[in-house]
Amino acid sequence: MCGIIGYIGPDDTGRMVHEGLKNLEYRGYDSAGIALAGGTLTLAKTAGQVDALTAPHANDATIGIGHTRWSTHGEPTQTNAHPHTDCTGEVAVVHNGIIDNYEALKAELSDQHVFQSETDTEVIPHLIESHLEAGISLLSAVQRTTDQLEGSYAIAAVVAGQDEIVVAREDSPLLLGHGEDATFIGSDATAFIEHTNRVTYLESGDIARITPDTITIYNDGEQVERETETLEWDAEAAGKSGYEHYMLKEIHEQPRALRQAISGRIDDFAPAVDLDIDLPDEYLQSIEEIQIVACGTSYHAGLYAKELLETHAGVRVTVHIASEYTFNGGRDPWRTLVLAITQSGETADTLSALRAAAHEGAQTLALTNTLGSTVTRDADDTVFIRAGPEIGVAATKTFVSQVATTVLLTVHIGQLRDVLNSQTAADLLGSLRTLPGAVQQVLDQEATMKQAAATYADSDAFFYIGRSAAYPVALESALKLKEISYDHAEGFAAGELKHGPLALVTPETPVLAILTNNAAAEKTVHNVKEVESRGAPVLGVTSDDQLTDDLNTTFEIPECGLLEPLVANVALQLFAYHVANEKGRPIDKPRNLAKSVTVE
Ligand code: F6R
Repeated sequence: MCGIIGYIGPDDTGRMVHEGLKNLEYRGYDSAGIALAGGTLTLAKTAGQVDALTAPHANDATIGIGHTRWSTHGEPTQTNAHPHTDCTGEVAVVHNGIIDNYEALKAELSDQHVFQSETDTEVIPHLIESHLEAGISLLSAVQRTTDQLEGSYAIAAVVAGQDEIVVAREDSPLLLGHGEDATFIGSDATAFIEHTNRVTYLESGDIARITPDTITIYNDGEQVERETETLEWDAEAAGKSGYEHYMLKEIHEQPRALRQAISGRIDDFAPAVDLDIDLPDEYLQSIEEIQIVACGTSYHAGLYAKELLETHAGVRVTVHIASEYTFNGGRDPWRTLVLAITQSGETADTLSALRAAAHEGAQTLALTNTLGSTVTRDADDTVFIRAGPEIGVAATKTFVSQVATTVLLTVHIGQLRDVLNSQTAADLLGSLRTLPGAVQQVLDQEATMKQAAATYADSDAFFYIGRSAAYPVALESALKLKEISYDHAEGFAAGELKHGPLALVTPETPVLAILTNNAAAEKTVHNVKEVESRGAPVLGVTSDDQLTDDLNTTFEIPECGLLEPLVANVALQLFAYHVANEKGRPIDKPRNLAKSVTVE
């Protein structure tokens, strides 16, 4: 949600910042803007996507900041686009996050300051301006300003005629990239990864001053040192590699993502897993409940994980939509492990649930894709899903990698608690080993999903049904279709159809049935017959050729034991993608959405 880029170096500043904004556009694409600081400030802003913005140029500018916005306060207009400036037009600020007390601050300032936009951000340059009037440095002015702000923010500020960028972060992510002769600032490393993979993550409360030759970081008034890390992600991994959309590329990357998720973590002979978990074994043996907190697709991965953990690790699992989470119910905090599943590691709802649980005394574990993200700092321990960068706003490869990693977690906890015998552990790990190949077989049949998408793209609505682990996949597949095609789609537990939703079923509403895991599939077939007798076309995903007679269209998948629903999910990702593509939707940037949602 909102992307920030900053550049200080010898290359054409406007072009460098503009390129960074293109890389970050998946974080928000309602409006975009750039400020270059030379002797004067050069400002360019537009409503809409970065392509609509011409990169500004100023011969004397070696410093620039840019912003791509996902609107929170105020419509996505040019006036509301960042950077925002002060009354003198000399201070420019970009901001990610929400300033909770902006109305009070604006009221205080409005005697002497004229505001142009409806945003919360605009108070920041005006506050900086008022502090600069006292003749202090930009660093001190930003320090005093952040003392007045309540809420979450990552900000970058520049002043005309000054060779420096001052940045500050509180809760919202911000990192520095160290090029050979340039320094970058980014909301995430995608902003500048083609220039450098050497980064420094700023921590909450940090304020940094960056000049052409120096970087100085402060926290609470004291100078602090932050580590420089080398990221393994490279620019090629973040590009489209010839695919029409990032989403399609990422769907096709799933076999590789899965191999990465399990690589070096399985001992086939024992059998056992090594997830490099620091939480003590005795603790994991003693837990009474795992509470999973997550949003959207990650929440669906959590529901899948519940099936695995309850069945094979012998521990009660509750799954919570993070924004609805409260730690209650008389549970023993110490014996409750709170597992936050978040690919970005920055989702505000999930972080807030995690912090609430930690405050009550629960131990916390994060499952994330993003090195250095806030969740890795907040949680007691972290397991990485290793999916590689995911740029498409609709999560695909991170979902399968999340579930695959929870299989490893299940084996780890199940064995520690002595509830998982060697044979079942071997079966689970065996399914995991065959998963990348099984997913590849589905990808090789893309033409079938594409054909079905062309046939059904104009339907009134789409319903997805499944049981046990196929139920979260039904929810996830419906979410995928609705977010990228804008069609109405809903997932149901197959058995629930007859308790109400069946009233919606007509010949114009295809039903996509996930017929996996034998016993569950046999029951779902009854529900298939119910919808067929109401005239609905049925598209089934199955590995069982005995079931295909009941279906209008079959997406055949290979057998994959407990993980078969995950393989079915890949077929349904491709179906969703091709329905959206038939309709010419902007698949990588669906309207109103952003990749990383850093506000509650
Ligand atoms: C849907 C999607 C979202 C995210 C949700 C949580 O395709 O991507 O529903 O899953 O916003 O994001 P993370 O996993 O980053 O916490």
